[in-house]
Amino acid sequence: MSRHLLSVDSLTRDSVNHLMHVAARMEPIAQRRQVTRVLEGAVLGNLFFEASTRTRVSFHAAFCRLGGSVCDTTGFTFSSMAKGESLYDTSRVMSGYCDAIVMRHPDQGSVAEFAAATHVPVINGGDGPGEHPSQALLDFYTIDKEFARLGRKLAGAHVLLTGDLKYGRTVHSLIKLLSLYDPMRITLVAPPGLEMPDYLIDLVASRGHRVEQRASLADDYRDVDVVYTTRIQKERFTAEMSEGFSLSRDFTVDRAFMDKRCGRDTIVMHPLPRDSRADANDLDVDLNGDPRLAIFRQTDNGIPVRMAIFATLLQVDELIEKDLRPVRWFVPERVGVDDAAL
Ligand code: NCD
Repeated sequence: MSRHLLSVDSLTRDSVNHLMHVAARMEPIAQRRQVTRVLEGAVLGNLFFEASTRTRVSFHAAFCRLGGSVCDTTGFTFSSMAKGESLYDTSRVMSGYCDAIVMRHPDQGSVAEFAAATHVPVINGGDGPGEHPSQALLDFYTIDKEFARLGRKLAGAHVLLTGDLKYGRTVHSLIKLLSLYDPMRITLVAPPGLEMPDYLIDLVASRGHRVEQRASLADDYRDVDVVYTTRIQKERFTAEMSEGFSLSRDFTVDRAFMDKRCGRDTIVMHPLPRDSRADANDLDVDLNGDPRLAIFRQTDNGIPVRMAIFATLLQVDELIEKDLRPVRWFVPERVGVDDAAL
């Protein structure tokens, strides 16, 4: 694995497999049964210049669960970038304070520019419509875990990606990551104007996968193993696109779609947040409590996967087992009220 994690382009099937293996070893810590201090004394810089809940907090929590501490800054308003400071200067300054840096920024390529000015490992927490490699790793980890539970195989699997495939950075990283594996079927369904960029379709097809674009969800998806749906990224629209845009129910994944068009064991994923406002037509809440809905298992998986990324980049991945202690505080059996024991 390279020094930074900026794009799925720097990952190979072997490096992904290694991260998946390390993440599985982090599970007892993520599930609050054991404690480690392998990153005791280390400091993470968590720089978020775009809205975030789970990515920011889960990177923070993952670093703390390895025994490290976190410094953060949120938004441009309270950072020196509001005074015109460059990415180069910010990068050099933060490198003097921190042992690893996670950055989210609205401009595509900005995190790579930031990383070019430092020897400290940098993780791309999302660069505009570009990439979100740690999300793809946790999505892949989720698919792998769900498939193991259901007795499914990744080779030959059928994955449906739907929603905003143009601006959704999570699907850009995920489709690249899936393409590293044995040939599968990938179906893409996006509202007009929000289709997956051609260069990504070409890349995946050139690696032997069968990629198909369909116009709507009103079709037969009975042999789909994973429905991965995404939020419409209206904040990235041009003024022209925003004008009068509304998403029809034809693109909504809800209980009726799952019951009528998908198989009984099809899993539903979403990087979250889902837009729960009435006119958004994002992933419907009527699937809450349905075991096919994997979205909260997916968010939970963010912790072991992000721990694995830190441990690997900071080269303590071999030390975890030697450093484990049992947890002493109260931990509930299930964290959410809808959680089934799977
Ligand atoms: C996404 C993001 O910020 O790219 N969320 C996430 O990180 N889990 C998706 C989104 O904003 O719609």
